[in-house]
Formats: sequence, structure tokens, C-alpha cells
Amino acid sequence: MTNDQLNSGSGQPWADNNHSQTAGVRGPVLLQDYQLVEKLAHFNRERIPERVVHAKGAGAYGTFTLKNDMSKYTKADLFNGAGKETPIFLRFSQVAGEAGYPDTLRDVRGVALRFYTQEGNYDIVGNNTPVFFIQDPLKFPDFIHSQKRDPRTHLRDNNMQWDFWAHSPESVHQVTYLMGDRGNPASYRTMNGYGSHTYKWVNEDGTAYWVKYHFISEQGVQNMTDEVAAKAASEDTDYLLHDLFDAIEDKNFPSWKVCVQILPYEEGLQYKHDIFDVTKVVSHKDYPLIEVGEFTLNKNPDNYFEDVEEAAFAPANLVPGIEPSLDKLLQGRLFAYKDAARYRLGANYEQLKVNRPLNEVHNYERDGFMAQGHAGEVNYEPNSQNGPTEDLSARNHGDELSGQTGNYKAYDEDNFSAAGDLYRILSEDEKQRLVKTIKENLGVVDDKQIKILETKQFYQADPEYGTRVAEALGLDLEDIK
Ligand code: HEM
Repeated sequence: MTNDQLNSGSGQPWADNNHSQTAGVRGPVLLQDYQLVEKLAHFNRERIPERVVHAKGAGAYGTFTLKNDMSKYTKADLFNGAGKETPIFLRFSQVAGEAGYPDTLRDVRGVALRFYTQEGNYDIVGNNTPVFFIQDPLKFPDFIHSQKRDPRTHLRDNNMQWDFWAHSPESVHQVTYLMGDRGNPASYRTMNGYGSHTYKWVNEDGTAYWVKYHFISEQGVQNMTDEVAAKAASEDTDYLLHDLFDAIEDKNFPSWKVCVQILPYEEGLQYKHDIFDVTKVVSHKDYPLIEVGEFTLNKNPDNYFEDVEEAAFAPANLVPGIEPSLDKLLQGRLFAYKDAARYRLGANYEQLKVNRPLNEVHNYERDGFMAQGHAGEVNYEPNSQNGPTEDLSARNHGDELSGQTGNYKAYDEDNFSAAGDLYRILSEDEKQRLVKTIKENLGVVDDKQIKILETKQFYQADPEYGTRVAEALGLDLEDIK
């Protein structure tokens, strides 16, 4: 390979990259050395805001292959025509830590999957757990504050975390997942992914279904103990990044089965609990998994910053035949991600390489920082200049609504039975590790009332669960019943 010749960002040849221009041999340095000035100025601007959550992550490109034609349920092109291949980009992440945080500390993990479809980008922005801590988007900033750093000490603080959870009983199902084995995945390759929310699929005839996504790791689900995780954190803060990068470099490509649960529209609305409540799951016995296809990750990013850091996933990136449900949390997310991207990357973030769709973009949005690619096309509508026209295939299915506007309590009062169901399917070993982890995390909280409030939740989920936690924490059983 021949070396390219060095030049500046504006293309001018660059004569010396090691010695600044000075007035005489001993200096001082001259302001006329604009290449020095440019180099220092650009360096000062290398960092951009990290994601406000999910700041640390690893990404890779790959392919989704549709195994079973889903046209009965959705008209979305990527799910129509068995055998169809769609390029993808996926980013795994942890939630609470900053960009340099150790990978292996207990946390929920993010699984954000982008399909570059013929009809634009479709993103499923999920986690490695099928449920979430809260049901209402209004609680999200408070929840995240409690998981991040204390404003005074700048330390992460178990007191804050458990204070929030103890006063938010809808969290107990997800807290049980987090304190259980899945809180420490052995690698990103060995965890499942879940869309978590209920989404809507609509077929060509306009018939709608409710759908829940499951990505099942073909490497098998494997987790690590707290001891192994702590050792990994001290030896290699990028343990999970390394694992994924190395596997792909070694051509040991990881893959996941894409499965869905499908509920007919009316039946879904009558389900035994509200299917829009993201703290609960839909039973696999009631609606078994249907295999849709498979995705494989087979290419590492060429440039981490441009491929991974500049990726802006959004639950609002939907394609015709796939719509949001009424899930209140999801509704909040439809706004939050694109807004976060405008702040983090700028108004024209969709023009960045990793965010650009396969198909050409034609619309009337213009200008803003870093805008490019619009030439002199007409920039208003209606017009007589053959500007882009509306595409009725993208019209939404719509839902019938009733009632009065108001600040309603979300969903039903039963915050506990789903967590109890999860506890009861754990093996005795898993239960022991769960209680031990809760003891280690909740046990260090200063305020006894927080311990009691939280343990009451475990007790309501399952009396045995609550009793074992109470005993581990040395609480009086009468206080938690
Ligand atoms: C990232 C907001 C709930 C999964 C983010 C980001 C924001 C955000 C602002 C950073 C985006 C960026 O800078 O590019 C919210 C809000 C929520 C919510 C307001 C609730 C109202 C959830 C839920 C899940 C989830 C329920 C999973 C089921 C993720 C993932 C990322 C992320 C995976 C990282 C995306 C990436 O890799 O770039 N969230 N979130 N979030 N969120 Fe959420």
C-alpha cells in the first residue's frame, strides 16, 4: 500500500506534521501556522455528548434472513417473501454506566436492532429482559437519576436505586430479572433480546394483530457469577466489547432466532391483563413463539465513532405494516429517541452513514447544521414542480378510543403476580443466587424502611421469596407481611 500524502481538511498539502512554525529556532510559535491551529481546534471538538443512558456499547453489522413468510400478519416488506435477506446493524449496551464504565457490572443490557429495509429503516430498540421497571414515561428521568450518580457525591448509590424501586412497586418484576442470573450475561452473544413492548402488525387487508418480539440466542443463554464479573471488571473493563469483536474477527459469527408472539387484535384487548403494560409478559402457553427468521452478526464496524457512536436508534423508526401500540411507555419513547439524537448528533443526524436508509430520501425538510445532498430540489408543498408526493401505503391502521383526557394511574393494581411467576420457575440454585444478590445490594442500604418496603414487594410476589429475603436481611417477618 502506498502512503497517501498528508493534507488538511480543506485538501491543502501539509508540509510538516511534527514541528510547529516558529519565529526562529527557539520560538515563539506563529499564529500564521493555521494547520497547527486547525489541528488543535479540531481535537478540542472530538468528543460529543454520550448517550444519556446506554452510553457504553458494542455494535456490529449483519444480515437478517426471513425463514417464514409473515404476510398473513403484516405487509412489512422485510417480513414478506421467505428467504428475503435484509442488512442489519445491532448495538448492545449497558444502561446505567458512562462510556468508559466496566462492562461486567450488574445491569440490564440493551439490544438495539436496525433493519435497513426497502421501505426505510426499521428499529427494534429492546433489552435482554422482556419487561421494564416503569409503565409511564413521566417516571423515566426520575428512574434514571436514581440509577446514575448522586448529585452531591458523584457516586452511584444503592440507597437511591432501592429508594426509587421500593416506592415504585411496578418495578419488582424487572428488579427480579436484574438481581437474577440475567443481570450478568457471560457475553453479549449469549443473551436473548426482547422488544419488550407490544407492537402492532397490520396486513395488506388492513387486519391488525398485536406482536411481541423475542430474539433467542443460538449460542444459548449463559451468565456469569458476581465473582467472575468482578474479576472481569478489574482485569478488562471492555470485557463484553472484546468478546463480541474477537468472535466476529475470528469468523465465529453469532446468530439469533427472531420469534414473535402474535395475538389477534380483539383477543389481545381482552387478555387477562393489559398487554400494553410493559411490566408484564404474555404467557408462552397462551401464545407460543412463532419463528420468523434469523439474524447473524458478521462484520465489525470499520470505525467505532462513525458506526456505533453516531448510530441513533429510535422506536419511532417504523415501516408500513408495523405500528406502535397504546403502551404509554412506548408512546413516550416515540418522542424521546429522535429528540435525543438531535441533541447528541444534530438536526441532520439521519444523513450520517449508519443512519442513512437504503432507499433515497425525498421530503421537504431542509437545511440546518451539516445539511447535505438536497441540491436545488423544490422545498415546499403543494407545488407544480413534480415534488415528492404522499405514499398512502404508509397510512396507519388506527385504534378506536374513548374516555376523557386526564392523568390516569397506569394499568391494574397487580404489580406482583408476574414477579411471583418468574420467581417460581427459577431452580433452587437460581433462587439462592437471587436472594444472595438482593442481600448484597439491598442489604447495604442505610434506611431500614426502604428494605422493608422492598421486601414487602417480594413477599407479595411470592411469600417464600419475601420470607427468604427478609431472613437474609435480618428483617422481622411481621414487618413485611
Ligand atoms: C437509549 C430514553 C425506555 C432501551 C435511550 C436513549 C434515550 C432513551 C434518550 C439515548 C438515545 C440516544 O442518545 O441515541 C428512554 C425513555 C424511556 C426508555 C424516555 C421510557 C419512557 C426504554 C425501554 C427499553 C429501552 C423500555 C427497552 C425495552 C434502550 C436502548 C437504548 C436506549 C437499547 C440504546 C440504543 C443504542 O444502542 O443506541 N433511551 N428509554 N429504553 N434505550 Fe431507552
